Amino acid sequence: MNPKQLAAEKAVSFLENGMTIGLGTGSTAYWAIEKIGEKVKNENWKIRAIATSIRSEEHARSLGIPIFDFSTISTIDVTIDGADEVDAQLQLIKGGGGALLREKIVASNSNQMIVVADESKWVKTLGSFPLPVEVVHFGWQRTFEKLQLLGCETKRRMQENEPYITDNGNYIVDCSFNEITDPPALHEAVNAITGVVDNGLFIRIASKLVLGFNNGETRVISR
Ligand code: A5P
Repeated sequence: MNPKQLAAEKAVSFLENGMTIGLGTGSTAYWAIEKIGEKVKNENWKIRAIATSIRSEEHARSLGIPIFDFSTISTIDVTIDGADEVDAQLQLIKGGGGALLREKIVASNSNQMIVVADESKWVKTLGSFPLPVEVVHFGWQRTFEKLQLLGCETKRRMQENEPYITDNGNYIVDCSFNEITDPPALHEAVNAITGVVDNGLFIRIASKLVLGFNNGETRVISR
């Protein structure tokens, strides 16, 4: 089994029938959705699910997982989602798949966020992975300049020669800092720029990490 699937299936073992579950986005969260689909089909699980992207919602629906409108749900028990980088304090960089805003809204409204990742995502210091920042269209060039003043190089994300557009209709700018020495301070500084909707740093949101290793082992780390 590949390490992403291993981590995702271990994380699903922490879920229970009857829960309200947040479904993440990406190639690791994919396996969690598959496993939850199996529970619904083969073990008759009655759950309620909220998806963090249109992609994950369609995947879940195709497996018969019931998707609920956020307005009908006040608390999410557990969200399982991937990460682009994770450090020992369970601080994350997310948004490689462009879904960071919905992911953060869902995770921060969850009693527990379980991060699932293969061993390559575990880092000593965040920042090798460029930080995704969601930015509104209006005045985006000026917003990019303000981001550059924080010490990064900016690159507007593209897809098939067109600017990438998020599920919320915004741009993503990937900000290369190389090393983020103070993630909480950077999170505040980025979000203080007018025109920024949110950024991919997740601080004090993840409660558990399940890492999958190439040798077939998993490791669970709690905050
Ligand atoms: C989606 O926007 C991201 O936050 C993903 O959760 C993150 O990029 C991890 O994706 P993979 O599991 O595909 O590496």
